[in-house]
Amino acid sequence: MIHARNLTKVVWDGSIETTVLQNVNIDIEQGEYVAILGPSGSGKSTLVNTIGLIEKPTSGELFLMGHEVSRLNERQRSNLRRGGIGFVFQNFGLIDELNVYENIELPLRYLQYGKKERQSKVNAVLSKLQITHLRHFFPNQLAALQKQLVGIGRAVITQPDLIIADEPTGNLTSACGNKVMEVLSSLNEEGFTIVMSTHSAMEADRGQRVIQLFDGHIITENIKNHL
Ligand SMILES: Nc1ncnc2c1ncn2[C@@H]1O[C@H](COP(=O)(O)OP(=O)(O)OP(=O)(O)O)[C@@H](O)[C@H]1O
Ligand SMILES: [Mg+2]
Repeated sequence: MIHARNLTKVVWDGSIETTVLQNVNIDIEQGEYVAILGPSGSGKSTLVNTIGLIEKPTSGELFLMGHEVSRLNERQRSNLRRGGIGFVFQNFGLIDELNVYENIELPLRYLQYGKKERQSKVNAVLSKLQITHLRHFFPNQLAALQKQLVGIGRAVITQPDLIIADEPTGNLTSACGNKVMEVLSSLNEEGFTIVMSTHSAMEADRGQRVIQLFDGHIITENIKNHL
């Protein structure tokens, strides 16, 4: 489903050229839950944003759902992203002016779903995440965990092929982080393909596979033995 070949990203940091990703090769199949583990600055966000078509690689190839996407223009990439990829961000990424219901509904509006269909989909997601009682709240009225549950709701509302979660527990206490980890695991059990980045080995262990990044390259890849 996702095949990265020699993905490399070079950026200019002031006057210095920095290689943020170096010859990264990854294969992720549908239904997998893959954790990208690495310290701050190792390139996790750059990698998941590249896989998620938010950032472009400098060189290398990236195949997503059968398409080579590394050289697509912004419009083509956003078309693939929309509906196909759901993002969960460390800082939640909610729109302050929209309430919980409207935040979760937004991706469906972009995809031009009718009102009835939007209603039934949003209500189902609210109920699944057990946040129906928060539907009229605005982000500034929510606790951090509640915000992230809304972020997850928005990510899954279109039934995307892929969920990308970039340090989804980065702004949460460990107890709240655990709850988010449980929700991601149950989404994976439902069939969602998940790529999650984290700097915590314990969290990474929630995935079926851990890809460890350091200074922009993969240092180890562990596949768990399912006995
Ligand atoms: N557009 C850019 N311009 C300059 N430097 C960049 C750019 N994007 C990334 N970097 C640098 O590349 C390195 C990797 O960044 P990245 O954000 O991918 O790491 P990360 O593993 O997600 O870190 P964190 O855990 O702090 O989120 C960092 O040193 C960062 O400063
Ligand atoms: Mg990051």
